[in-house]
Amino acid sequence: MRRALVLGIALAASTAACAQDRGAALFAEHCAVCHEKKGEGIPGFAPRLAGNLADRAKTETGRAYLAQLTVSGMMGPIVSGGERFNDAMPSFAALSDEQIVAVAGYVLGELNGVPAEQRITPQDVAAARKRALPPNEVRRMRDR
Ligand code: HEC
Repeated sequence: MRRALVLGIALAASTAACAQDRGAALFAEHCAVCHEKKGEGIPGFAPRLAGNLADRAKTETGRAYLAQLTVSGMMGPIVSGGERFNDAMPSFAALSDEQIVAVAGYVLGELNGVPAEQRITPQDVAAARKRALPPNEVRRMRDR
């Protein structure tokens, strides 16, 4: 009984660690080319992600924006960390729901210290797919 419990806890921990590794690998593969390896961003092109997103993750509208951005991409001028950007974030609709949750989990958890309950869920991703907004309308979600 006790052994089963310990095994269960070990399994749960390794599943969480595994999701984290998967998120890191997905980030390296799909996002780092523009946002840099540790989410530092590229001045004048792609905003810094590390340390800039925790406030957005605190609200439901903020999380809806982050899920939508990853599914649909975004276009239009933004100010992030006091710097102006005006380029295009591509859509990642081709990733599975589970992959989007994992990569967003990495960005929010590892790069922004956001607790698990404030990260993007499969429900957030499903809602974003259903809304299917064009990139310029995603930009409007950022101001809400
Ligand atoms: C081709 C370059 C490129 C790639 C690849 C890319 N992004 Fe972006 N990303 C951008 C640009 C450019 C913006 C700003 C768009 C704008 O100015 O409207 C942006 C914006 C963002 C924002 C919004 C930040 C804010 O302050 O609102 C997040 C979050 C983000 N990207 C996450 C990701 C994630 C996660 C991935 C990988 C799945 C990714 N990006 C891949 C270029 C890219």
